[in-house]
Amino acid sequence: MSHENHTGSFPATRLRRLRYHAGVRRLTRDTILSPDRFIHPLFVRPGQGVRQPISAMPGQDQLSIDELVKEVKILDDLGVGGIMLFGVPEVKDSVGSDAMSDDGIIAQAVRAVKDVVSREFLVVTDVCFCEYTDHGHCGVLKESPCTHEWDVDNDATLANTVTQTLVHARAGADMVAPSGMMDGVIGAMRRGLDQNGFEQLPIMGYSAKYASAFYGPFREAAESAPKFGDRRSYQMAPDSAPAQAMREIAQDIEEGVDIIMVKPALPYLDIIRMAKDQFPGVPLSAYNVSGEYSMTKAAALNGWIDEQRVVLETLGSIQRAGATIIITYWGKEAALWLK
Ligand code: PBG
Repeated sequence: MSHENHTGSFPATRLRRLRYHAGVRRLTRDTILSPDRFIHPLFVRPGQGVRQPISAMPGQDQLSIDELVKEVKILDDLGVGGIMLFGVPEVKDSVGSDAMSDDGIIAQAVRAVKDVVSREFLVVTDVCFCEYTDHGHCGVLKESPCTHEWDVDNDATLANTVTQTLVHARAGADMVAPSGMMDGVIGAMRRGLDQNGFEQLPIMGYSAKYASAFYGPFREAAESAPKFGDRRSYQMAPDSAPAQAMREIAQDIEEGVDIIMVKPALPYLDIIRMAKDQFPGVPLSAYNVSGEYSMTKAAALNGWIDEQRVVLETLGSIQRAGATIIITYWGKEAALWLK
């Protein structure tokens, strides 16, 4: 073999020509992050002037509504796409009543935030009950006639979920995002919204959500750890067949979902890519969850890694895998870095 000038042969082919010059590197970038496709999760709690640090998520706080409004203005000014709101109510009970009240924490928060944000800034609400129930599960409980264990009652939870969804819609939410992994939730919410005049309100479905250990820090943030058992009877098993995630997504699409989600992001980049390839016509989001945030934060605070570079590389990997929308606790910082 001679070193002739045929394609792929060195020395005619020198891939470093794309790297020597900073301008060429910039010109040939392919994964370009944009803050307007970040959704920043925020936790709202009762009170005035409260910024309660979440110890397992350095840099993130539970905020009272007045503080939330300030934070949201900053995000809006930075060009972040929107927020995803989680509520920590004053009172929890067995069904999660606060979530179904027009005076509940989320309804109040949405109204306050919608008053100050720009036209394009999106206020997305988490539709789930684990933050509102005293047992910490994502719906109402009943003893299963099959296993004789206490478990979330799927269909009874659907009815409450529709009530919760309408509370969010009436408060002014721009999008609703059910995270409870109940069967049929998208269809139930869609019908409920349509019957009440909200046929234009989109649903972002947590279509493929795994029962992940990476949610650990979130449960402190949302005060939503289950008091007994775990979420394995409703969330997907991490070791289940990837095709099951595709079934979950297909089901949500059939029921009328507008945007699909894979969650968590990093341990499931393969699932994100598969979803992107199999459902190219549906906008795909990924949730870069609390544990992913906290691991990187911990290493950064120890001085072991360069946080900015690691975070942007991480968010880039999620986008490259196929998610154009990223739900991330780095929304604010990453927007600053990208400026
Ligand atoms: C509630 C919910 C959870 C998260 C989002 N919505 C926790 C859970 O399912 O236990 C996790 C988000 C994160 O870890 O950042 N169902």
